Amino acid sequence: MDKGEQLYEGKAKKLYATKDPDVLLQEFKDDATAFDATKRGTIVEKGIVNNKISAVLFQLLETKGVETHFLKSIDERHMLVKKVKIVPIEVTIRNIVAGGMSKMLGLEEGIVLKEPVLEYHYKDDALHDPLFNEYHIKALKLCTEKELETIKLRSFEINNILKHFFLERKIDLVDFKLEFGRYKGKIILADEISPDTCRFWEKGTKRKLDKDRFRRDLGDVEQAYQEMLNIVENKK
Ligand code: TMP
Ligand code: ASP
Repeated sequence: MDKGEQLYEGKAKKLYATKDPDVLLQEFKDDATAFDATKRGTIVEKGIVNNKISAVLFQLLETKGVETHFLKSIDERHMLVKKVKIVPIEVTIRNIVAGGMSKMLGLEEGIVLKEPVLEYHYKDDALHDPLFNEYHIKALKLCTEKELETIKLRSFEINNILKHFFLERKIDLVDFKLEFGRYKGKIILADEISPDTCRFWEKGTKRKLDKDRFRRDLGDVEQAYQEMLNIVENKK
């Protein structure tokens, strides 16, 4: 494996240099955190599951014309990705009320939204990733107006593609978080798409198959991650 210097370590992943300056090796860890890392733990084999699920979903998006940083799966915990400069904005798309939106607006979890809600959060752990809007983004010059337009358009496109993909598998895509980066002058999708960054509810029963099982101490965390992997890989 072409594993050079470690360039970055986040809460769930590490990035290593490779011989190609445009390419990084992304490693998925088993470490799990919640609530700004005030809650910490391990989800056994989460790294393996998230690497595999992300690879399938990135490839699905590529076939639908959404450019991502994904290049190639290397092994169970590693993928090669394009070296992007991350735009410090976390984009959340919500189809059903849960989590942060439920708390912020005093709404019951499970309300199906008439149309998807897009939120921007400033990617800054020390500030607890605060919710902000397009005016803040422009004033802070986090990206150009054109880049922001691309980010917004892509996010809704990704929602349509993923919602459909999961619906076919009897899973409601409740909400998810995306991160984008700049690569050779373009905005492309980066980071990961996994049960860490999405809420997945089994259709009908609303059984949670994502990181909320860890956040809320619901038990059967590893089983839920494995179940989502099987679903994504059509093994169920
Ligand atoms: P929220 O309801 O807590 O704002 O989360 C919305 C979605 O974003 C949910 O699918 C989980 C994901 N998410 C992350 O990927 N990273 C985070 O730090 C947080 C807070 C949420
Ligand atoms: N991973 C995030 C953290 O540790 C939050 C979350 O996913 O709930 O802060």
